[in-house]
Amino acid sequence: MYNLILFASGTGTNAAAIMDWCASTGKARVALVVCNKPGAGVLDIAARNGVPTLLVDRELFRSAGFPDTLRGYSPSLLVLAGFLWKVPDAMVQAFPGQIINIHPALLPAYGGKGMYGHHVHEAVIAAGEKSSGITIHYVNEHYDEGDIIMQAHCPVLKSDTPGALAKRIHKLEHYYFPLTIGYLLANLEG
Ligand code: GRF
Repeated sequence: MYNLILFASGTGTNAAAIMDWCASTGKARVALVVCNKPGAGVLDIAARNGVPTLLVDRELFRSAGFPDTLRGYSPSLLVLAGFLWKVPDAMVQAFPGQIINIHPALLPAYGGKGMYGHHVHEAVIAAGEKSSGITIHYVNEHYDEGDIIMQAHCPVLKSDTPGALAKRIHKLEHYYFPLTIGYLLANLEG
């Protein structure tokens, strides 16, 4: 059984999809949800699934001892699913090749600081793109620049609003994020 630590601060629909996948496959379990936003929907989702949560402020998140706190949960992967703070270099170094993020566009386009949620979809539509999608990538010391693990595409329709595009992209995320986690865990077995 592999342990996952999820980092999420939004509504937590990806966290829910990952927890459902864990329950249905039995291949992993979410050992902890780390959140930086009191009242975030992901906290309710964790509670409903019996997953412990840790609310962090910047000081704790960046503290030298935090990687050790996380190690206490024996994680195989640290999964960012809607977590906006930059991961400190020390944490990237403490978990080499074990931290992944999902981004709601086809990186390297439409990434970087400030490019999250509706900002991404607004920019994609404003640029007249005909397709968008998701990117699952390793986390390195720079926002949205780590090696890409997988991408999945979807069309951008002429009639799309940022909300409509977000909905289509969420469907891709909920399908492919758990599968990609499963793929990475299978690779740990060699
Ligand atoms: C997702 O769209 C993901 O790509 C981005 O943050 C969003 C989180 O959504 N990194 P949710 O909280 O999982 O619904």
